Amino acid sequence: MSTIEFPQDFVWGVTTAAYQNEGGVKEGGRGESIWDRFSHIPGRILHNDNGDIACDSYHRIGEDISLLKELGVKAYRFSIAWPRILPSGWGEVSEEGLKYYEQLIDGLLEAGIEPYVTLYHWDLPQKLQDEGGWTNRRTAEYFKEYCKVVFQRFGHKVHRWITLNEPWVVAFNGYYTGVMAPGIRDFSAALGAAHVQLLAHGMAVECFRSMKLPGEIGITLNLCPKEALRNTGADQEAAVRHDGYSNRWFLDPLFTGAYPQDMWNWYEQQGVTMPHTEPGDMEYISTYIDFLGINYYNIDYTKADDSVWPLGFRTGFSGGNPMTYYQMPVTPEGLKKVLKRVNEDYHPSQIYITENGASYQDHPDRNGNIPDEARIDYLFTHIQKASEALAEGVPLAGYFVWTLLDDFEWNTGYDNQFGLVFVDRKTLTRTKKKSFDWYAKVIRSNGAELKHM
Ligand code: FCB
Repeated sequence: MSTIEFPQDFVWGVTTAAYQNEGGVKEGGRGESIWDRFSHIPGRILHNDNGDIACDSYHRIGEDISLLKELGVKAYRFSIAWPRILPSGWGEVSEEGLKYYEQLIDGLLEAGIEPYVTLYHWDLPQKLQDEGGWTNRRTAEYFKEYCKVVFQRFGHKVHRWITLNEPWVVAFNGYYTGVMAPGIRDFSAALGAAHVQLLAHGMAVECFRSMKLPGEIGITLNLCPKEALRNTGADQEAAVRHDGYSNRWFLDPLFTGAYPQDMWNWYEQQGVTMPHTEPGDMEYISTYIDFLGINYYNIDYTKADDSVWPLGFRTGFSGGNPMTYYQMPVTPEGLKKVLKRVNEDYHPSQIYITENGASYQDHPDRNGNIPDEARIDYLFTHIQKASEALAEGVPLAGYFVWTLLDDFEWNTGYDNQFGLVFVDRKTLTRTKKKSFDWYAKVIRSNGAELKHM
């Protein structure tokens, strides 16, 4: 038994995202998103899966809320699909789309669960992509307009807002490696997409504040400590660059109002076309946020490699650690490291761990049970590290597991199962895994019963 103590108001939650869960992609007047388009291009998604049906959450609000109630979470982080609210990205608002989220929000509030709403979890309206997507500065304006519609409708009920989820992934997996929607391969475009997203975030925060609504607003970044794979000067330098590429490129503008100079110089030397910025952009971007959301999965081990333009390194190694099914090294100490480092270097007022979880292959045994011990072990060791960071002064306000249901995991389709609940792909029936009961117990005891069952 651990002696860990969490503050009474510590927020235990679970996270999902619209495209990964909802299905009903052609219902309620929803417009096409870049993920609808991308997932239907043969060969882009493992097994050519797509999110047309996903977990069918669009039709199962009641069932999902019952599960959340049983889990005992204080908060549910989900995302609103922009193309459900503004099918073309701007202009006409869909009342049916707003109604769907109203039902969900009201259901959560009735169940005593606080909604934490992400405004953008990757499903850009395709019509905006046709005009350049996140490389077009106008997308930031459109995002602000969309947020305004949502704030107007739900601002009196929802008090925790997250503008963007993981802008790094959107920019660099979407526009540089192209493994995710919209599938573009252009490093300079990716830097542009990062800038326009940051601008969109800042504009949304400003809009929220100008509406004088109650509540708090922040952003979620995916942050991994970067470590040298080998004990060589070249790998160490590469790890610093890797940190600049994915962590500091977002943290610095948000908290200090400037891009990291070392990275700016590096990219220029490599011949990258740098993002177009305008006077006032950095002020918007560094507008005060009430909290920082951190999604943490693993430490990234970095190996110098001159042949990789323009970064000069490779990653994706185990570093000698066990790996999850997704091939992410299991490195709980990295969570504590990232929390402490962000706190020391950037001083956010509050931090939430907005995602943390692991993919393993889970299937019901002969008795219908799913004894997902490896997931329990992963969550256990990570929550333990979070509590250590808390004890050492990090203003950690909450912890959210990724995710409630086995869902559509982007380019890996339904192959990676992160859920506390198993979803049968044929019947869509939900079956609780052992980790569900374990996490329910952790929540009920406010972390005091944090032990490996
Ligand atoms: C994060 C995403 C989330 C999910 C997990 C596994 O990068 O925010 O949607 O896919 O990874």
